[in-house]
Amino acid sequence: MLSYRHAFHAGNHADMLKHFTLFLTLEYFNLKDKPYWYIDTHSGAGLYDLRGEQAQKVGEYRQGIARLLQADALPSDLSDFTGRLKEILPDENLYCGSPWLARFLTRECDKLRLFELHPADFAHLQNNMKEARLGKRGQIAQADGYRGLISLLPPPPRRAVVLIDPPYEEKQDYRRVVQTLQDALKRFESGCYLVWYPCLNREESRKMPEQLKKLMPENYLQAELYVHKAREDGFGMHGSGMLVINPPYLLAKKLADTLPKLTEILAQDDAARFVLDYQIK
Ligand SMILES: C[S@@+](CC[C@H](N)C(=O)[O-])C[C@H]1O[C@@H](n2cnc3c(N)ncnc32)[C@H](O)[C@@H]1O
Repeated sequence: MLSYRHAFHAGNHADMLKHFTLFLTLEYFNLKDKPYWYIDTHSGAGLYDLRGEQAQKVGEYRQGIARLLQADALPSDLSDFTGRLKEILPDENLYCGSPWLARFLTRECDKLRLFELHPADFAHLQNNMKEARLGKRGQIAQADGYRGLISLLPPPPRRAVVLIDPPYEEKQDYRRVVQTLQDALKRFESGCYLVWYPCLNREESRKMPEQLKKLMPENYLQAELYVHKAREDGFGMHGSGMLVINPPYLLAKKLADTLPKLTEILAQDDAARFVLDYQIK
C-alpha cells in the first residue's frame, strides 16, 4: 500500500538533516577526479511547491527550510549548503527532493539511478528531472528501490553513494532496509550507504540503527537530531537519524562542527538535542 506522499513533509526538519548529510557526502565524492554513481532507492517527486495544498496542510517546512534560510551566523559548511540551495533553487517557494539535489551536486561524469514506486510521484519525478535537464546520465525507474539497488551492484565505476529513504509507514520497511543493506554489502562492500530513519517511540525505529551498525561495526556514522519532546501517547516523529555506512572522511568532524547550530535553529522546545556516534577505520 502506497499512501505516503512526501509533498506533505518536504523541507521539514528531517529533510534538513538528510539533505545536509547528503550534501556533505556528495561534496566529498566530488573531490576525487573519478566518476561515481548516485543511487536513490526512494526518490519521491524530486521537487515540491511549498505553496501547494499538500505542503500547506501542516506547513512542516516552516519548522525546517524556512528556519534554516532565515538563520544567521551559520558555520561554514551550513552556509555552503544554504548557498548551494539558493543557487539550484532560486525560487524560495520551491524545495528540492534528494534527486534534484543530487542532479545539481554531481558532475557531468557521474551517473544517477532513481527509483520511485508511487505512480503519481513517479510521473512528477520524470517531469521534474526533465525540467532539471538530467539527460542521459540519469535513469528513472518505477520499480521497487530495494530490489533495484541490488540489481545495480557493484556499479561499474566501483564508487557509489546510495540513499535509502523509505516512508516506514509499514513495519516491513525496517526489516527490508536491514536485509537490503546486508545483501548490498555482500555485492559492494565499499559503497557509501546513507539510511534515513525516523526517531519514534517504536521498538523497530530504535532497533534498526543498532542492527545496521552491526553490519559494519568498524566504519559507520550515526547522527540523530531531535527537535522536541516525545509525545506521551507515543505518536509523532520527534526527531530523525542518518546511519551512514562507510562514511566519507571528515563527515564526523563536519557534523560535530555544525549539528549544535542546526539543532539550535530547528529546536521547537528545550528537549531538542543531537547525537553523533561513529567508528571510523
Ligand atoms: C520519504 S519519501 C522520499 C523522499 C526523497 N528521498 C527526498 O529526500 O526528497 C519516500 C518515497 O518512497 C516511495 N516508495 C515507497 N515504497 C517504495 C519502494 N519499495 N520502492 C521505491 N519507492 C518507494 C514513496 O512513494 C515515497 O515517494
